[in-house]
Amino acid sequence: MKQILLERYGQPEEGLRCADVPDVGAPGAGEVVFDVLAFPINPADISFCRGSYRLKPPLPATPGAECVGRVTAVGAGVSHVKPGDLVINLQRENWAQQRRVKGDDVIAAAPGIDIQQAAMLRINPATALLLLTDVVDLKPGDWIVQNVANSAVGRLLIRLAGPRGVKTMNVVRRDSLFGELKSLGADACVVDGPDLADAVKAHTREAPIRLGLDAVSGRATARLSACVGEGGVVCNYGSMTGEDPVMSRNALISGGQTLVGFILGRALGTRSLDQVRAIYADLGQQVTKGVLSAPVETVYPIEDIKEAVAHAQRGERSGKILVAPNGPV
Ligand SMILES: NC(=O)c1ccc[n+]([C@@H]2O[C@H](COP(=O)([O-])OP(=O)(O)OC[C@H]3O[C@@H](n4cnc5c(N)ncnc54)[C@H](OP(=O)(O)O)[C@@H]3O)[C@@H](O)[C@H]2O)c1
Repeated sequence: MKQILLERYGQPEEGLRCADVPDVGAPGAGEVVFDVLAFPINPADISFCRGSYRLKPPLPATPGAECVGRVTAVGAGVSHVKPGDLVINLQRENWAQQRRVKGDDVIAAAPGIDIQQAAMLRINPATALLLLTDVVDLKPGDWIVQNVANSAVGRLLIRLAGPRGVKTMNVVRRDSLFGELKSLGADACVVDGPDLADAVKAHTREAPIRLGLDAVSGRATARLSACVGEGGVVCNYGSMTGEDPVMSRNALISGGQTLVGFILGRALGTRSLDQVRAIYADLGQQVTKGVLSAPVETVYPIEDIKEAVAHAQRGERSGKILVAPNGPV
């Protein structure tokens, strides 16, 4: 089978290789074997390849924080999935044609779910949901502000905020995105820049913003914090600039704001396996109904991994870059 190997930390397209390796073999007791149908290339995968992610294993290593697969075999004692079922994998190392994993690590995906969307179900929809539920106790009518609003997380968050009555102020890098985001339910859209807080106030009519969601870091965190009200929370959950978040002392001391961090693994780790399965069952249903989705720009074969990761690092993409290791999806 084919498997992606990262042989050198640094520029991802230089350190990755599509290798021929032995098949994963038959499942042992409690294990599941599946063919990987598709995986996305997420910003965290790019950081992993660069060696700047929180996990930095000895090389060679296989990246890939999520995927969708079709079960080909199950070992003794596995009853929650069977051959033919679509599954998502809670564990890493998914940039390969086949996986053999512990049964508890796979979650059944709804049979009718779109394969491309299922490939992106594990991380971004759950992140968007838990950013809305776990950081601040938001009430209907509350405003939040988020940057990277046109990212997959940002778009999903807009969709999930609407039914909760939470109003979203969406910060992006170009105004040509406003129409698209408003059609998803965005309450207001603004372009990032030095006058961000003034632009935001013009939309909220000075209503306080309780939560700022930041995945850019650097000075962008301070600009977002300037939009958040007294006593509000700024939650940093990513760094598209590769920098650490910067907040003004004034916002922290006089404004009483709090800077917190979020990572999906820790938020899911506070929940039981049944609760985690329930979250994905609900998100999977919303994906199957078309309520939740993330646009896809291009799907590559696994042999073209270098082109795929180069493409994933370009700005102003119209959607995610996916890889389909076992043929078109
Ligand atoms: N903490 C967690 O558990 C967790 C989980 C999931 C995702 N995340 C983070 O969430 C963020 C979004 O992930 P995603 O998969 O949704 O992203 P995505 O769909 O791949 O989109 C990337 C976004 O980043 C923006 N961007 C790229 N470079 C930028 C820069 N230098 N300054 C400002 N914006 C920039 C892009 O804007 P343009 O269109 O303008 O280029 C686009 O909006 C990432 O930082 C990711 O690491 C964190």
